[in-house]
Amino acid sequence: MNEFELFPEAASSIAPEIDLLYWFLVIVSVLITLGIGLALLYLGIRYRRKREDEPPPEEIHGSNLLEITWSVIPLILALVMFFWGAHVFFKMRMVPADAMEILVTGKQWMWKMQHPNGKREINDLHVPLGQPIRCTMTSEDVIHSFYIPEFRVKQDVLPGRYTSLWFTPTKVGTYHLFCAEFCGTEHSRMGGRVYVMTPSEYEAWLEGGADASLSPVEAGEQLFGSLGCVTCHHDGKNSQGPDLAGVFGTMQALETGEEVLADENYVRDSILNPQGQIVDGYPRVMPSFKGMVTDMQITHLIAYLKSIGGAEEEKSGDDEEEPESPDSASLSDASQSYVRMEP
Ligand code: CUA
Repeated sequence: MNEFELFPEAASSIAPEIDLLYWFLVIVSVLITLGIGLALLYLGIRYRRKREDEPPPEEIHGSNLLEITWSVIPLILALVMFFWGAHVFFKMRMVPADAMEILVTGKQWMWKMQHPNGKREINDLHVPLGQPIRCTMTSEDVIHSFYIPEFRVKQDVLPGRYTSLWFTPTKVGTYHLFCAEFCGTEHSRMGGRVYVMTPSEYEAWLEGGADASLSPVEAGEQLFGSLGCVTCHHDGKNSQGPDLAGVFGTMQALETGEEVLADENYVRDSILNPQGQIVDGYPRVMPSFKGMVTDMQITHLIAYLKSIGGAEEEKSGDDEEEPESPDSASLSDASQSYVRMEP
């Protein structure tokens, strides 16, 4: 440790906002603690009993003005913290429409990344400056947590389902990547570097190297054919399953009358446990592909379905002025989207 830093560098679009909120909380807490401490000290000295035979002071029986004051001021402070915090939270959960998707897989004890053109890397993550990045993440074994302190983002990465986070890097540089969830003996070494490059440098980096792998979308399209998905999921008249073009990211009516959002986790569940949530009007004929596809193949299938999906990710991070009002419905939504981010 060559120099002591109170805060890690702030290198993403959300970082200054989080720091500001954090400082607000710290300053309010310190001022209140100091105020109470000093008042205690002063009053203790000023009104101490000075003589043995001193008569007891006159008692005060309530003061409405005082009680209202010390109820209303903390109420206002607490509400400011709540709405400010909710505002930042919703902003962090709403992915900008133009976000570039990077696939992240956690595994004891490494991070595997895949870029939109198929390029892979391990424990390193190269990203272009100023570009919103969405990491879609899953784990091959236990729970990990993807943490980039300089971007002020952290999200648990779970086996068997998808979670995601997004950030926009605002400074060229090299930053830390950590695993922030204890995941076994080498947890403390599970980490790497995030390299923020100018867009042209990133392009050059992306093209460089002898990496001829297919992009996630291409790999998914191939699997869609080779696994036989296409024999049922097509738009011909004898199709046994729904045509999947335009489906991803839209609400689907199930035979139970419920509606679900066709997101990453829904598609994943449909591949592994097709009878679980059948779309209304279709026969229960799809076999489970459990054990026949790897996590990575599922991720690629999802990437393909996303590419032919419906409603392009609508929610934008730009219309900040009106983030979804934190009413109870969207709050409970938001707590779910901690692990199941809205597209
Ligand atoms: Cu992975 Cu700790």
